Amino acid sequence: MTPEISSQIATAVTLLRAGKTIAFPTETVYGLGADISISSAINRVFEIKERPSNHPLIVHFSQISQLEHWAQEIPNAAWQLAEHFWPGPLTLILPRTHHVSLDVTGGQSMVGLRIPNHPIALALLNAMGPEKALAAPSANRFGRISPTTAAHVFDELGHTVDMILDGGSCKIGLESTIVSFKGETAIVLRPGGIPLTKLAEVLNEEVIFSEGEKSNIRVSGSLNSHYAPLTPLEVWPATSLWKRSVELKTQGFHPMLLGWSTIFMSREKNKDFSYFSMPSEPTAYGSQLYATLRRFDNGQYDRLLLEAPPNNPAWLAIVDRLQRASCVPFIKA
Ligand code: TXA
Ligand code: MG
Repeated sequence: MTPEISSQIATAVTLLRAGKTIAFPTETVYGLGADISISSAINRVFEIKERPSNHPLIVHFSQISQLEHWAQEIPNAAWQLAEHFWPGPLTLILPRTHHVSLDVTGGQSMVGLRIPNHPIALALLNAMGPEKALAAPSANRFGRISPTTAAHVFDELGHTVDMILDGGSCKIGLESTIVSFKGETAIVLRPGGIPLTKLAEVLNEEVIFSEGEKSNIRVSGSLNSHYAPLTPLEVWPATSLWKRSVELKTQGFHPMLLGWSTIFMSREKNKDFSYFSMPSEPTAYGSQLYATLRRFDNGQYDRLLLEAPPNNPAWLAIVDRLQRASCVPFIKA
C-alpha cells in the first residue's frame, strides 16, 4: 500500500464517520459505501443510486470472527462457505442481528454479508474499527452496469459521491455469488464470482441456482432490464449473429458485434461490420464484460449484438447478466 493510498484511506474513514459516502474497489465491482450505523448515510446511498428503498444492501466487513455480530442462527453450511471463500466474491444471506438496521435490509429480517478480497477494501474496513461495517451496493445508478474502474464510477455518479478510492480494474469484473439457505441447503440467488461447482465441492453436495426463489426474496438483480447498457443489446448464436447484423444494417442500423468463438472469429474479416473479439474463456470474458459493454455503449452504435455464451455451468453468471441486459428474448447457443 503506497503512502498516498494510506492517506486516502484515512481521509475516507473520516468522511465515512461523518456520514458521507465513499466509492471503493472490491475484487468484483466498485461499491458505494456508507457506515451501516448512520441512517442518513444509508438513505443517501439509496438516493445517489436512485434505488427503491425496499431493495436490500450488502453489508461488507473484514473479520470472519465478527460474523456473529451481524448474523445469527448461522447454518453449518454457511460457516463452511465463509471459511473457505472469505475474503472473496461470496455473499451469504443470513438472519440479521439488531446491529443491522432494517434500513439496510430493505425491511427484511435477513441480511446479505460479505468480506471482500481487495487490499484497499480490507484496509478501509479494518481502519473503520471493530464492530463497524459498510453497506455497499455496486456504485452505479439503479439498473445500470456495475462499474469495474474508478472512471466508470465517476461516469455513473459524478460528484454525488463524496470520494472515490481508485484501485484500478476489478479482477473478477462480475458481482459476488449470492447464497441463501433453507435449513442446511445452500441456494444460489445470484450466480457470480464463484462458480456453483466450487460451492458444491466445499459442501460436498449439489448446489442449485433458483430463479424461482429470487422472485420471493427481493433481489434487485432479478428485475429485467437490470445490468443493462443504454444501447439496446441482443444475444444470438454465432450462426444467426451475422444474419441479424445484415438485417439490421439494411434497416439503417449501426450494430457493434461482440463474439468469442472461432465461428465468430472466422467471419471477422468482413470489413463491412464493426466487431470485437472477446476472450473464449469464461473467467477472462467475465472480467472484461462490463468494461467492454461500457466502451461500446458510447452513442456510436445503435445496437450491441452479442454472441450467445456456451450453455455450460462455467458461464452461468455471464448468461445470467446477458439475459437481464438483453432487450429481446435471449436465444441460447
Ligand atoms: O459483488 C458484489 O456483491 C458487489 C460489491 C460491491 O460487493 N455488490 C453488489 O451489491 O452487487 P448490489 O446492491 O448491487 O447487489 C446486491 C444484491 C441485490 O440484488 C440485493 O437485492 C441482494 O444482493 N441482497 C442484499 N441483501 C439481501 C437480502 N437480505 N436478501 C436477498 N437479497 C439480498
Ligand atoms: Mg448492483
